[in-house]
Amino acid sequence: MTEFSRRGAMRLMGAAAAVCALPLRAGAGAGERVLRAAPAKVNLVGDAYPATSVWAYEGTIPGPELRFRQGERLRVGFENKLEAPTTIHWHGIRLPNAMDGVPHVTQPPVGPGQRFFYEFDLPDAGTYWYHPHAQSDRQVGRGLSGPIVVEESEPPTVDRDLVWLLSDWRLDQQAQLVENFGNLHDVSHAGRLGNTVTINGRVPERFEVSPGERLRLRLINASNARIFGLNFRGHEPVVIALDGQPVDPHPPADGMVVIAPGQRTDVILDCSGAPGSIARVRDEFYKGGAYWLVDLVYRDTRLRSDTLPSASALPRNPVAIPDLAAATRHEILLGGGMMGSLAGATVDGRPLSIREMFGQGLAWALNGIAAGESHAHEPLFAAKLGESILLEMDNDTSWPHPMHLHGHLFQVLARNGRELEREEWRDTVLLNPRERVEIAFRADNLGDWMIHCHILEHQAGGMMGLFRVG
Ligand code: C2O
Ligand code: CU
Repeated sequence: MTEFSRRGAMRLMGAAAAVCALPLRAGAGAGERVLRAAPAKVNLVGDAYPATSVWAYEGTIPGPELRFRQGERLRVGFENKLEAPTTIHWHGIRLPNAMDGVPHVTQPPVGPGQRFFYEFDLPDAGTYWYHPHAQSDRQVGRGLSGPIVVEESEPPTVDRDLVWLLSDWRLDQQAQLVENFGNLHDVSHAGRLGNTVTINGRVPERFEVSPGERLRLRLINASNARIFGLNFRGHEPVVIALDGQPVDPHPPADGMVVIAPGQRTDVILDCSGAPGSIARVRDEFYKGGAYWLVDLVYRDTRLRSDTLPSASALPRNPVAIPDLAAATRHEILLGGGMMGSLAGATVDGRPLSIREMFGQGLAWALNGIAAGESHAHEPLFAAKLGESILLEMDNDTSWPHPMHLHGHLFQVLARNGRELEREEWRDTVLLNPRERVEIAFRADNLGDWMIHCHILEHQAGGMMGLFRVG
């Protein structure tokens, strides 16, 4: 990543927006929600610039926050008012296969003008999100995504519980999307990295907090490709959940909250700054590409002066524990990309050289297969219902890949053969270049499920596949 300053670009654009979060509660018995996907114009970077032409749910970026209690049922009447076929995938939620929103695999794509009714129970508390699963690189990249919050029956006491949905946009000087989606350079390198980062659909300048306030920040990375490494300088954020799943409360390693595309991190942030002070939040993930994301601006009056007890662990979700002693082992080799050694792969049943793959916009493979959206190929592995699976993923590329499994939550066991320091459950795990990661899960959800890289240009470039349960 080059050393340009996104922040500088945003300054030029003269944005002056405060971050705002408008939770829309799905009240008990209120039942059904409507989500319509349609083109819209939304001001992302501030009033000095024209509104950006985007695709949006209900005309807003991000889409409406869907908030439920654990155990409630989600009911969404979806309508496609786009010119392209689409679906909604409910990222991280354990649901019946037919509701998973993967075109050609779990449902037919929802054509322009068509509707689809999504309905399923929410077994797990936590922070999730929704987005299309048809041409995801283009559709998510144009703005289609929204947060889902499933509250614990007894949520931890905080002063504010709010979502920061982070998106990364590649905009031109008129604040319009640069129309080079799916170009081979992005596909074969780090994906579509943008030049403008928004929090809840606005380039943030200042986020007001009160001295002494305790926040639960639900960070969601809805970017196509950007990995975030947030540094809340002068503060001591405590991580309490990863991908919605409780984790022993702990400070982030090196003080940096790393969130790859698709992932979520819940942090407790105690606003320990002095009245009237300003604290700078920076994203420092890419070497040489650090920038100022937003300022925490302290109000003059204290909310409280006593210190709160330290955050306690959230109750765990009813996720089946894999039986490691009896687990069946499978391996997935991640190959391809620039500076890699992939010579070719199987595409639609035919062996292609890497050159020929490039000609079709493909650059990646899982176990030597580069998949297209039709999924006209065999699953990478199959499991019997209830079987414990130990999956080793081996990143034989020069690029990081956040690998996402559908329909299940898994435990991350080890990185490069070293056990993790603390128990970690996820639906998306980041593999660093050349890293080997072992995960385990109980295959307890029937159907054909996706496994893919959540850098959406990598997914479109072949880095996806299926696994079968049943
Ligand atoms: Cu968030 Cu298969 O997707
Ligand atoms: Cu990838």
